[in-house]
Amino acid sequence: MKTTTHTLRKLKGQRPIAAVTAYDAITARLAADAGVDLILVGDSVGNTLLGFANTIPVTLDMILHHTAAVARAQPEALLVADVPFAAAHFEFPQVLASCQRLMQEAGADAVKIEGGAGLADQIGRVVAAGVPVMGHIGLQPQQLLNLGRYRRFGAKPAEAEHLLADALALERAGVFAVVAEMIEPNLARTIRETLTVPLIGIGAGGDCDGQILVCTDLLGMKPEAMPSFAHAFAAVGEEMKKGFAAYVMAVRTRKFPK
Ligand code: KIV
Repeated sequence: MKTTTHTLRKLKGQRPIAAVTAYDAITARLAADAGVDLILVGDSVGNTLLGFANTIPVTLDMILHHTAAVARAQPEALLVADVPFAAAHFEFPQVLASCQRLMQEAGADAVKIEGGAGLADQIGRVVAAGVPVMGHIGLQPQQLLNLGRYRRFGAKPAEAEHLLADALALERAGVFAVVAEMIEPNLARTIRETLTVPLIGIGAGGDCDGQILVCTDLLGMKPEAMPSFAHAFAAVGEEMKKGFAAYVMAVRTRKFPK
């Protein structure tokens, strides 16, 4: 059965939500078959698949391309596309046009926008236009050049207060869920208890309404590049290397083709 923003919201308080990123049709199909609730075509495609150092070079066209590939897998999971670097900060008609392309051209069910209270009015207008939006607070990788480095958020009381205010402003704006990235686990629990929409954590401890991981991390494709909070549930990188090496050997020794 297709997961919608409504069925996803109803999971809060019932069972934890399992969300992953995916950027192509085959991975999306495998993730959907495994029963994930939500697939995010994250701008993490930049630093996972496309060879960029971070998410900042990722453009709307890149997200459209990867979202369309994931949509072709027709996942039962809710398909959410990231609004990439700076694109949510333009004038409203342009922001809405980007969301419209992600949904109408690429086939996303919803979009994700990084930002807190400062973007809540803009997000409220996008939601009012009919676009389901997932919020994203705490570490916002699109702010990397302002931040200087990736870090944990919410240890200091003033920052914790701001994050709670961000989450509440997003809920008032009408988001159907909020991603909390690298937020202090105690604060994530408080935010989860305060919100009526699901709080989906990444590096925010176990007291969220669900978890999201980047697929290349959870599959162990490049364990040496994995953030400390992530966990590899498989060793796909090693398996791929073994497969390539076996093929090379078989060709060179004329064992393939038979
Ligand atoms: O782009 C992404 O993969 C994300 C997740 C880390 C939540 O935003």
